Amino acid sequence: MNSILCIGAGYVGGPTMAVIADQCPHLRVCVVDINADRISAWNSDSLPIYEPELDEVVKRTRGRNLFFSTDIDGEIRKADIIFVSVNTPTKTFGHGAGMASDLQYWEKTARQILANSDRSKIIVEKSTLPVRTAAAMERILNSGENGIQFQVLSNPEFLAEGTAIQDLINPDRVLIGGQETEQGRNAVQALVDIYANWVADEKILRTNVWSAELSKLAANAFLAQRISSINAISALCEATEADVDEVSRAIGLDSRIGPKFLKASVGFGGSCFKKDILNLVYLCGHYGLKEVADYWHQVVAMNDFQTDRFVDNILKQMFNTVAGKKITLFGFAFKANTGDTRESPAIKVAKNLLTEQACVWVSDPKALNNAKQDLRDLAVHLESDPYVAATGSHAIAVMTEWQTYRTLDYQRIYDSMEKPAFIFDGRNILNHRELFNLGFNVFPIGKPGLTHF
Ligand SMILES: NC(=O)c1ccc[n+]([C@@H]2O[C@H](COP(=O)([O-])OP(=O)(O)OC[C@H]3O[C@@H](n4cnc5c(N)ncnc54)[C@H](O)[C@@H]3O)[C@@H](O)[C@H]2O)c1
Repeated sequence: MNSILCIGAGYVGGPTMAVIADQCPHLRVCVVDINADRISAWNSDSLPIYEPELDEVVKRTRGRNLFFSTDIDGEIRKADIIFVSVNTPTKTFGHGAGMASDLQYWEKTARQILANSDRSKIIVEKSTLPVRTAAAMERILNSGENGIQFQVLSNPEFLAEGTAIQDLINPDRVLIGGQETEQGRNAVQALVDIYANWVADEKILRTNVWSAELSKLAANAFLAQRISSINAISALCEATEADVDEVSRAIGLDSRIGPKFLKASVGFGGSCFKKDILNLVYLCGHYGLKEVADYWHQVVAMNDFQTDRFVDNILKQMFNTVAGKKITLFGFAFKANTGDTRESPAIKVAKNLLTEQACVWVSDPKALNNAKQDLRDLAVHLESDPYVAATGSHAIAVMTEWQTYRTLDYQRIYDSMEKPAFIFDGRNILNHRELFNLGFNVFPIGKPGLTHF
């Protein structure tokens, strides 16, 4: 049985390997991590991340051909193919701080693989990395004196949290970048052979390594750019009484544009968009392409503007003061169907409201554990029941597009709130006219507010 290892048991490593194990019962798949708590959670009934359908896939495969372990050295020795899916956050120190990727976890992994390998292996970059990282990794790996040769492939992951399992089972494409040498082509073929167990050949793209690495950064930049574009238009809608949902529908029906990623909101979040764009900006700067760097940087600047604008509007509409007022955030995850709160706009909204001395309550069906970490040392109240959280509030701000928030009993919520009662819909998911008729003052994104005064 061929042995596959994944280093990094996070949002990518865990689900990706669970699906590979499910689709390829003839392979032994192991996921390792330096974080022992995370590994024991993967081995328990309470998985460390929430993702629809993940529980079922893990239950089917764990102990059969899927294993979670902290024995990184031992598992490296057993593996034929090693996926590396460690985190690659933005650097917070030294050269390139705030922009470049922090590659320390990545390099440590490369050295650990080298130290524990006694035969040639294929290394697969799953993490999102700056262009040409594979070259650096290959240099480190092939620096050994025992004649072992490593092939490094780039196989960026395009799953979206919240739909990870379906994205992995039915990917739009699988991208594999490899060296254009005989060994490179053989390594690519070995990886293609794994995906071919469930992905049609026409969806498996083979490219050179640099194209694969850059495609991931470019894909995230394009996706984030669409959100910033519609958010920029939402600001103009509010100034002109146009309706951003109507504009979005009108432009999205143009087949050249398409309807996806055109929903105005309080801003994008997640661990990837901001970090990957900043990394792209850094790379452009490194190659002397200042105009290109400035162009992409604006996508992040627009996102920050949108979140700040949301809080400014709360303040303005609530008579320029929220000091001592209870404001309840509906949702804290950066999007629906995940517990992930990394870079969630709700973090900034909560902190800005606290700066204004509001009394902040946070509700979320899956993200309260992470919210507790994000807001540690801050005087916020966490409450999973939205009705309890809303009671006595002056305002509700919808931060996450959870389905459950669309169907709450808003009459009951209105009755329990201080008056005048406000709703700021940061995701445009509620029925604004209905809420207005109940008595709420309603402020969507990119549409005229509905007020009783
Ligand atoms: N989250 C997403 O939706 C997503 C989608 C596509 C690509 N990516 C990319 O995939 C990569 C991983 O993202 P993630 O969200 O899974 O991150 P994560 O932080 O959830 O998981 C990374 C894991 O790697 C572990 N790790 C770090 N250094 C290690 C080492 N030396 N040895 C063993 N384990 C180590 C950490 O303990 C952590 O559990 C990133 O580069 C990210 O940009 C993420």
